Amino acid sequence: MIQRLGEDPSNTPAWHDLKGHRERMSTVTVRDLVMSDPERSAWLGHDAAGVHVDASRQRVDRETLTSLLELAQQRGVLAGRDRMLAGDRINQTEDRSVLHTALRAPRSTHLIVNDVDVIDEVHTVLDRMASFARKIRSGEWKGFTGEPISAVVNIGIGGSDLGPAMAYTALRAFCTDGVIFRFVSNVDPVDLAECLRDLAPETTLFIVASKTFTTQETMTNAQVARQWVTSALGDAAVARHFVAVSTNAQRVADFGIDIDNMFGFWDWVGGRYSMMSAIGLSTMIAIGPEQFSELLAGAHDMDAHFATASPAENVPLLMGLIAVWNRDFLDIPTTAVLPYSQFLARFPAYLQQLTMESNGKCVRVDGSRVNYSTGAIYWGEPGTNGQHSFYQLLHQGTSTITSDIIIVARSENPQADQQDMLVANALAQASVLSMGRSAEQVRADGTAEELIAHKVMPGNRPVTIVFTQRLTPRTLGSLIALYEHSTFVQGWIWGIDSFDQWGVELGKKVAMGILHDIAAGTSSDSNLDSPTQASLARYFRWR
Ligand code: F6P
Repeated sequence: MIQRLGEDPSNTPAWHDLKGHRERMSTVTVRDLVMSDPERSAWLGHDAAGVHVDASRQRVDRETLTSLLELAQQRGVLAGRDRMLAGDRINQTEDRSVLHTALRAPRSTHLIVNDVDVIDEVHTVLDRMASFARKIRSGEWKGFTGEPISAVVNIGIGGSDLGPAMAYTALRAFCTDGVIFRFVSNVDPVDLAECLRDLAPETTLFIVASKTFTTQETMTNAQVARQWVTSALGDAAVARHFVAVSTNAQRVADFGIDIDNMFGFWDWVGGRYSMMSAIGLSTMIAIGPEQFSELLAGAHDMDAHFATASPAENVPLLMGLIAVWNRDFLDIPTTAVLPYSQFLARFPAYLQQLTMESNGKCVRVDGSRVNYSTGAIYWGEPGTNGQHSFYQLLHQGTSTITSDIIIVARSENPQADQQDMLVANALAQASVLSMGRSAEQVRADGTAEELIAHKVMPGNRPVTIVFTQRLTPRTLGSLIALYEHSTFVQGWIWGIDSFDQWGVELGKKVAMGILHDIAAGTSSDSNLDSPTQASLARYFRWR
């Protein structure tokens, strides 16, 4: 029995079984599971595309996992996967295909969608990007006054910022010197002003990245940047200092950017899934076309694994199913992403949009309201810093939080034994979070009786270890695809559309109305609720 997308997953036999497992597991801790089966890491640890994922510290046993795999089968998850990969319009509310996997498909492959081979189109754009990137990197591309470019500023927000910004931080070890990269996203005028403070128009290139080329923050910042260049160098300088990444050629032309300087992508690439499209132009300039190909190859390797691995060894499937188990059966509302790699400092922020803009939905694709929990709250900071910030709550708070601890075995900057320290901390935290420390153990440590209760570590916090040997463009690509597909699995189980984002539209519309009120100097707009009117009046008094 396979349900149609949009049907209620809580009506499946597997969901019923999982509720039974939840009762059974209510008195079973991670410590119990680990102590009773030292081989857990063997059957709950799997490799995919250069990444090892070990879920042995999650609160699942063999029966639970079996029921989770049955849930996937009864929800038709792998059939849904095949539909996505084939270009079916699974983004139902926007009637679009979902083909971020096509962005990293090898040139030799083909995929016909609406009578067009999308792989050909992808590689045509990649070739143009590579040619442009080489010109910037070699100094062949000159600014209006004949100077080579020494600073690239990506102006974008959401998926047009988070991916490129994260990749630049993650792959600093692979960036050649000579060109610096900055990322401007916020409409707060400070963001662009601080970026430009020490730059010169003659040597700065702006990438205006916007799928729609209508986003208020991006277009506002782009206009100010344009003014910064033209006031110094004249209107004719725009062609040498601005390129655009968008699906909207008309809007790009209207802005005054030469279409020859536009790198396009397609409506079947969601913003939060777009960093391997032309949105990744800044990444390609930073690390070079060859290394960008490695990024694509790593993601493609994970795509191939997701497409072909057997369910019990399918890493994105397992991660997604365990996420559903934690969210809907263990009632864990949030996932901490804790990369023990300073280069991955922006990875949690990137995952926030990927996971929460995808699965922060409360109605299924058919419009019916869910009666179960959907997308978890993703957040996080690099280790070891978090240990000196929020780990106290992770260990002894009243909320149980599941953690993805990401470990990179080999540092790109080996410095004596610091990498050993970093990894030792990661493993220690995973152990203490999941295994805890009992009153008996604390007492045996010689702890004073009045402190025993304060030093008991409840443990039983689920942890997944996401392990890679190095952080390279290839393994970053694999990591990104891993989370993209885990996000897909969760959304498909929940029957929601993971690829639209209607929830962000109203805020933009209300903001435009308030902006008009500010321009008119009125705070008594009856369309505004009274707290907004009061705050607006205060803004007028204080600005
Ligand atoms: O947050 C809403 C959103 O549409 C995201 O999905 C998208 O990544 C971001 O705004 C930026 O959109 P655009 O690339 O069209 O400027």
